[in-house]
Amino acid sequence: MEELWQGGYCNCFVKLKIMTHKLLVLTSGGDSPGMNAALRSVVRSCHYYGIEVYGCRRGYQGLVDQDIFPMDAASVANCIQRGGTILQTSRCLAFHDYAVREKCRFFLNAAKIDLLVAIGGDGTFRGATFLENEGGPKVIGIPGSIDNDIVGTEYTIGYDTARNTALDAIDKIRDTATSHDRYFLVETMGRRAGFLAADVAIAGGAEYIITPEFPISVEELAAKILAPRRKKQSLIIVVAEADHPGRSVAIAKQLEKLTSFEYRVCILGHMQRGGSPTAMDRIHASYMGNLAVESLLAGKSKYMTSIQQGQYVLAPFPDPSKPGRCLTDVKVINLDEILSV
Ligand code: F6P
Repeated sequence: MEELWQGGYCNCFVKLKIMTHKLLVLTSGGDSPGMNAALRSVVRSCHYYGIEVYGCRRGYQGLVDQDIFPMDAASVANCIQRGGTILQTSRCLAFHDYAVREKCRFFLNAAKIDLLVAIGGDGTFRGATFLENEGGPKVIGIPGSIDNDIVGTEYTIGYDTARNTALDAIDKIRDTATSHDRYFLVETMGRRAGFLAADVAIAGGAEYIITPEFPISVEELAAKILAPRRKKQSLIIVVAEADHPGRSVAIAKQLEKLTSFEYRVCILGHMQRGGSPTAMDRIHASYMGNLAVESLLAGKSKYMTSIQQGQYVLAPFPDPSKPGRCLTDVKVINLDEILSV
């Protein structure tokens, strides 16, 4: 806080207390399309409110390496349409260590950084909470993940872009599947939650869905394929990768044995994390970035920006001892059973 003396009414002097802040922004964990739009909004909101803003490269790794730099309104020009994160990101295991965080905290305190906006997922928020609780800057998080699996928000930045990328792939696979009378397994990302798989399966008219929340056995699936409600020449089975990326190769082999049909496998993988963000991701990211800065200025901390019932609001960080948000919290996926006949 800076104290300024300034001339006022009747030649007397009034003492104005002007808060001066320095805000650091970082992106951490898996990248997601729209992170740049959130970053741009944070930087330009700071510019608007006269707050000095710094960027930190490669998430918490940048704090460990003391790799921060000043940003101005021009630093985020022409990035709203770009996928990935111009700040870069990392999954920094060293930050789990108290001694490492202590060094980072000393570094931030010496640089007089008192505010932090952390863009990422559960792990990002956990790191930021530790930092604040241990005497570091006040933090607000912005949820970014293609999995849409963060408790407390109905939407995470990047989800819509990933969904459209995967859907585009499914539509293309449908063309070749139909042309050859083939059965396909298409594997989407989604470690703990099947939101991505369920949405693209419904939007792409897939015949079957396998998600972490509804882990149908291969025997059950084979039985369904062998006794379809309507005979089809081609099939698309959407499989969420869960905690075994590439698992659809083994599922296809088992299905071949059980059904005597051939299956082709297409693993969409990291392509779902890239690409130019959709309008939805850019817009949510822009509102959330601004809310994060205004909330810090209002003295709030240890919250994340979120969407609840269509409104941008603050929500407490998710409890790390509780499971993430998943399909069973919000909807049943038997719509696909009804529609894919
Ligand atoms: O960020 C979420 C996510 O994309 C998951 O869907 C996926 O399982 C995981 O990250 C992959 O992580 P990494 O890029 O570290 O392999």
